[in-house]
Amino acid sequence: MEADFWHQMWRSGRVGFHQPDVNAFLKKHWKKLNLSGHEQVFVPLCGKSLDMLWLNQQGHTVLGVELSEKALQEFVTENGLQATTLKHPRFSGFEMDKMSLLSGDFFDVSVKECREVKAVYDRAALVALPPEMRQQYASHLKAVLAPGVPILLIAMDYDQSLQSGPPFAVSALEVKALFEDRFNIEKVESDTFERKGVQTTENVFVLIPKT
Ligand SMILES: C[S@@+](CC[C@H](N)C(=O)[O-])C[C@H]1O[C@@H](n2cnc3c(N)ncnc32)[C@H](O)[C@@H]1O
Repeated sequence: MEADFWHQMWRSGRVGFHQPDVNAFLKKHWKKLNLSGHEQVFVPLCGKSLDMLWLNQQGHTVLGVELSEKALQEFVTENGLQATTLKHPRFSGFEMDKMSLLSGDFFDVSVKECREVKAVYDRAALVALPPEMRQQYASHLKAVLAPGVPILLIAMDYDQSLQSGPPFAVSALEVKALFEDRFNIEKVESDTFERKGVQTTENVFVLIPKT
């Protein structure tokens, strides 16, 4: 998707992907990444997700990246957080206790920003992107992450011919094709429901780096 599409969504408040509660799959499956609790977690395409606060509450520091500065401003305001302006040569954004939110393009995030990252949480990030960008997303993520960083990935799957994205349909096979060179992939939960009249499955994957 073009950046303008997302800026327009945030400007007009059409953010149906935003969840009013912490994601239940995150709460249930996060422990499967075998972290001790103090690590930095990278949240690509973070929106104003409350999941970042939950990760903080578990003891993690959070590094988010989001195209829309408005989304990040809403995150700070709606949650009554004390934030300062991020001082960074290439990103604007916000700095808080245990959280850095970069406002800008995920594809501009480099190894430097991710040097302390020890885990990744992707909910509605991969599925926000059309097919050709998903390949770039996976390649970029793998390029900026240090070896040994696990990922919790939540992706939607449905018959793409019945509905257009975003969210795009991303099958378990696609997740495998995108990540199996570097990760052992386990599907830990599936939930099927009807979304806008289309049978939809949400799959939760734990990606553990191959040694
Ligand atoms: C479907 S939403 C998901 C947001 C969040 N992960 C959540 O669970 O609520 C996708 C988000 O990615 C942002 N986005 C899209 N392309 C991006 C990019 N290239 N870099 C950074 N953020 C991007 C959009 O502005 C939007 O807020």
